Amino acid sequence: MKANFGGAGGDVDRRAFLKTVSLAGLGLAIGATASGSVLASSGGTRRRYAIVGLGSRAQMYHDAIEGNYREHAELVALCDLNPGRIRVAQARSAAHGASIPPGYLHSDFGRMIAEQRPHFIIVTTVDSTHDDYIVAAMEAGCDVITEKPMTTTPEKCQRILDVRARTGRECRVLFNYRYSPPRTQVKDLLMSGEIGEVLSVDFQWLLNTSHGADYFRRWHSQKEFSGGLMIHKATHHFDLVNWWLGAVPVSVTATGKREFYTPAMAQRLGLQSHHERCHTCPEQKKCGFFLGLADNPKLKELYLDQESHDGYFRDRCVFRPDIDIEDTMNVVVGYDTGTTLSYSLNAFNAWEGYQIAFNGTQGRIEHSILEKIYVSGTDTEQGGVVDGGVRTRVFPLRGEVRDITPWSGKGSHGGGDKLMLDDVFLPQPPADKYLRAADERAGANSILIGAAANQCFATGRPVAVQQLVSGLARPDYAPMPPRDGPLVMPPRM
Ligand SMILES: NC(=O)c1ccc[n+]([C@@H]2O[C@H](COP(=O)([O-])OP(=O)(O)OC[C@H]3O[C@@H](n4cnc5c(N)ncnc54)[C@H](O)[C@@H]3O)[C@@H](O)[C@H]2O)c1
Repeated sequence: MKANFGGAGGDVDRRAFLKTVSLAGLGLAIGATASGSVLASSGGTRRRYAIVGLGSRAQMYHDAIEGNYREHAELVALCDLNPGRIRVAQARSAAHGASIPPGYLHSDFGRMIAEQRPHFIIVTTVDSTHDDYIVAAMEAGCDVITEKPMTTTPEKCQRILDVRARTGRECRVLFNYRYSPPRTQVKDLLMSGEIGEVLSVDFQWLLNTSHGADYFRRWHSQKEFSGGLMIHKATHHFDLVNWWLGAVPVSVTATGKREFYTPAMAQRLGLQSHHERCHTCPEQKKCGFFLGLADNPKLKELYLDQESHDGYFRDRCVFRPDIDIEDTMNVVVGYDTGTTLSYSLNAFNAWEGYQIAFNGTQGRIEHSILEKIYVSGTDTEQGGVVDGGVRTRVFPLRGEVRDITPWSGKGSHGGGDKLMLDDVFLPQPPADKYLRAADERAGANSILIGAAANQCFATGRPVAVQQLVSGLARPDYAPMPPRDGPLVMPPRM
């Protein structure tokens, strides 16, 4: 199996990688950090972090460690398969005035741990490679902080559950959407019991033709690397519902298709054909989906200038025939509490954001967010909310509808990223009654819905989610309204 993730060349043999991070290769590191708490092993000083995967997302953690959290955190190493992006990251440290962390190629991941002895590995690589780094890091005695999705298949998920049980190291999965203030507010409303217990949920997530189309340009467009949008994107949404409800998914039925990002659509939109990529496209001027890597200094530095190392094209044609992910998906999920979820994800919409309704025994909550236009790796704000774009309403059974003034925050993902970074990097984060910090159990329960949906797309048959892996415990959830307590009789009409 190859770890090349999106271009013409640049194949990297995954077996060679696995060999280099095998336990034998990590012998030195095991004794170094395998026992004791992180604070004990850090001597009460700054925690030592290494980042693997130095693309766009890694920059938020890099900036946090060397910025707001520098009293508590230290970036001790950088790792990627692309030496160019390692140099870009090192230049970022220099610009921060921080000491420049040594860089390691992915094949030297084990040596990096042995030499630099990080307490935590932050995993921000291509989704399908997360499990290799999580397993290798935990085997070497490090705790792990991984980006969503935790991984892309049930088999990889099992590897993570097993290494966690075997080593006892921690695996934190960063679900930043939970920390967005208006979404936390919805959790607060659901916990309050105002609408009773939730019997069903209707949830539509819309991706527009800027951000949504971008998934069809990169490694995300191939299931081998991303698991498709049911894993890569919907992991956020399934986790939100799991957490909002305090429930565990048990059954999934789904349908999915790709009908917009196709060669035929390129022609219907007036192009002669699809092409390899925007940078060399002969029909650039005619295409509304053109992305100019050379025109944007950030995209140029991070991707275009580094292509010679790995052949990763960040601007592949969104109408290519080799895309194998869906753009139109419908899913029904059954939960252990009895609640049912009806969910849809479309990647070609006129606006971006979502609307959700919780149907409870004592009323209904409707909540929606309209997001700003965003393209990863540019100066646009990720998950930014349009002014006045949050709406939350409570409809008590036979009562007056109530508009809720939304809780708000600033910065990416509606202020959620800042709250999440506090939770991750402060030595003593504030107590959290919503239990937003997530581990591998939540990571698994969200990706397994997506994996089950992918199976349904292929077979047309329902999937029993909890049978996809073994040894998966229920996540810790804040208490929710009981499903068998007394209810208030609604007033007569
Ligand atoms: N929580 C969020 O809102 C959010 C937002 C964006 C991305 N992400 C996640 O962050 C991760 C990175 O996404 P991105 O947008 O930065 O992607 P990217 O393509 O910009 O960067 C990926 C990086 O990983 C490196 N890489 C690929 N395979 C590797 C391997 N085998 N070993 C070492 N390095 C490897 C690439 O060279 C590249 O530098 C993904 O898992 C993605 O799902 C999360």
